[in-house]
Order: sequence, then structure tokens, then C-alpha cells
Amino acid sequence: MYDLTVIIPTFKEESNIGTIIESVDAVFSRNAINGEILVIDDNSPDRTIELVREFQKTKQHLSLVVRTEDPGLSQSVVEGFRKARSDIFLVIDADLSHPPALIPVMLEGIRAGNDIVIGSRYMEGGGIKKWPLKRRIISKGATFLGRLLFPEIHDPVSGFFAVKKSVVVRAPLRPRGYKILLEVLGKGTWLKANEIPFEFVDRATGSSKLGRRTIIEYAGQVIDNAQFSWNHHESAVWQEWVKLFRFGIVGLSGIIVNEGVLIYLKGYIQLSLPVASIIAIELSILSNFILNDTWTFGTGQQHAMPHWWQRLFSFQVVSIGGAAINFVILNALAVFAGVDYRVANILGILVAFAWNFLVNRRVTWKKSG
Ligand code: GDD
Ligand code: MN
Repeated sequence: MYDLTVIIPTFKEESNIGTIIESVDAVFSRNAINGEILVIDDNSPDRTIELVREFQKTKQHLSLVVRTEDPGLSQSVVEGFRKARSDIFLVIDADLSHPPALIPVMLEGIRAGNDIVIGSRYMEGGGIKKWPLKRRIISKGATFLGRLLFPEIHDPVSGFFAVKKSVVVRAPLRPRGYKILLEVLGKGTWLKANEIPFEFVDRATGSSKLGRRTIIEYAGQVIDNAQFSWNHHESAVWQEWVKLFRFGIVGLSGIIVNEGVLIYLKGYIQLSLPVASIIAIELSILSNFILNDTWTFGTGQQHAMPHWWQRLFSFQVVSIGGAAINFVILNALAVFAGVDYRVANILGILVAFAWNFLVNRRVTWKKSG
């Protein structure tokens, strides 16, 4: 048994395979990691296989699987999951786009209790070097779609990640295309994920095999994972939709509070309208806060979040922002674009709702760690 299995999927990597094996190996020895290297090749017609076999003569912790059926990057990674002889898997590209130096950091992340640790290009400190505009746009689009399912993950389509065996061992993965991480996040059993920024450096030699088919396959995969969550309520995707739904219910309850208080203060206590309405709005914000804090986002995890008064302050500010958004959209559309004010208001409410949910989700009830 090894501490870690580094899975390297390859197709026609004769110019890179030697370097990546040597670099991973150097990282193993420098950090005293008892690691295994597992190359999963799709029967490359170049010298990749031959070179790996050559290395195997001196490295007994290096294994090679040559696949001859159903070729594909995701399929190869899943094959790696099955063949690995450790409880922690780490997937890395062969073309040196992913820095092997991060391997110990990611391993540490798993040992510290994360189920998944992702090498992330789209967070502070991360980035992409030498990519043409077209690839950047495609990648951003893919990331956007992926984040509809996993808003908390900055880079759900990274090809560089570590995962506990237990996450994927029983997962009904349907590997295809390039984005195996999305499949792991969508179908795997996990609670805690962590991201580590890195700079993706495009391959210096060889060529990417990403094509139009990859994009279509990916869209299908996103839909498949959304569907899967419908029948698997423990999945991360479903949990996210539950939050959105609850946030909406709380928003509706706020309308009742607001209206009720207004009727009471104006109709019974006879306060002036501006005073009554300010109190009514503020009380509805407070009751929304309490419900969202205990119900929508509060599954006993508040300890890992900002302090309660920080959450309250943040929610208050976001709510005022939402009200301003509603106001501006309503007035702009109705006054300048001639839209019926009732329709304009509904649009304003919807945009404000999206704003409130997204910002509160990421800031007010942000999970730390
Ligand atoms: N076994 C196998 N079978 N390996 C493959 C196949 C295949 O059909 N296609 C590609 N690979 C291997 C390559 O040899 C390389 O090690 C790795 O998978 C990535 O392939 P590239 O062709 O270099 O992909 P890329 O650089 O365009 O895509 C990278 O970035 C994406 C994010 O934008 C990869 O890291 C993807 O996994 C990642 O999603
Ligand atoms: Mn590449």
C-alpha cells in the first residue's frame, strides 16, 4: 500500500512523459512521500508506452495501464481510480501544465480532512499562461456552467485535483469527455472541498486534443449531473438548490412581515407613512435574517462562518443594495423604457433576488476553511 497514487493520463506524450515522471518522483523523495505513479495510456501510437516501460526497470512504484477500448481522458482517470493501490488519488496532466511541486500541499489538504483538494486556476493567486483568447472564452463558459452546480468551487473543471478513494469508490461515475472533476463533484460522496491556486502553463510540446465534441459532451455532463442530484438529495448540487429554494421562501415570508407591520403601524398606531414603512422594511430584513441564518444556511455550521453580528451587518448591507437594485430597475424601465411599471417591478424584484442570494451566499454565510 502507498500513501498516495499520482494518476497521469496520457495520449501521445513522448516528449513530456520522461520529465513528468522524474518531477513527480523528485517531489516524492524530497517530501518523503511513499507514492505510486500510475500512467494510464490510451494506446499511444508514439513512444510513450515504450518510454514508461523503460522507466519501470528502475522504478518499481511506477505502473502502466495500456487501454485499448473506449479511449478518453475521463475514462482513463476512472480506470486509474480502480487500479490505484492507495487511499488518496491525485490526477495530474502529463504535459507539465500542472506544477508537481503542489503535490505535497494537496496531500496535506486531504490529510487535514478535506475530501477533495482542487488545483484552481480561477481564484486569487491562480491563473493561466499562454492561452489563446478562444480557449480562455471556452474555459470561462465551461466554468460558469459548472458553477451553476457548485457555486462554491472556483474551478470545477480543473484537471488537477486530489481526492479520497472513499469519495469515488462507490460513485456511479459516467466518465466521458475531459471534465472528470465535475463528475466526481456531482456524483461522489464528499462534504469538504478545498482549493489551492496555481498557474496553469500551456503545454510547450505536443498538442491539446480538445475539440468541438468535448464542448458538447461537457454540456451533456452538466445536465446529467443536475438530473442525478434530483434523485440523490445528499449530493452537493441538491444541497445548493435547497438553499436557493429556502432563500426564496424566506423572501416571500418577508413580504408578509413587511405588509403586516405596515398595516399595524400605519392603520392602528397611526404612524406617518415614511416612518411606518421604514420600520416595516427593517423588521422584514431582520426576520429574513433570522430565518436564513437558522434555516437556509444554518445547518449547524455557523462556527465555520463569520461571527453572527458580521453576518447580520453583511445581510443588512446586501439587503439595502438589493432594494436599490429593485428601485433603479423599476424606475429606469418604467420611466425611460416605457415598460409597464408592474412588469418592471417584477423584473427588478427578480434581479434583486438573484443579487441577494448570490452575495449573501458568498459573503454573509461564507464557510471558512
Ligand atoms: N489516456 C488518455 N486518453 N489521456 C488523454 C487523452 C485520452 O484520450 N486525451 C488527453 N489525455 C491526456 C494528455 O496526454 C494530458 O496528459 C492530459 O490528458 C491533458 O490533455 P491535454 O490535451 O493537454 O488537455 P488540455 O491542456 O487541453 O486540457 C487541460 O485543461 C483542462 C482545463 O481547461 C486538462 O487538464 C483538462 O483535464 C482540463 O479540464
Ligand atoms: Mn494540456
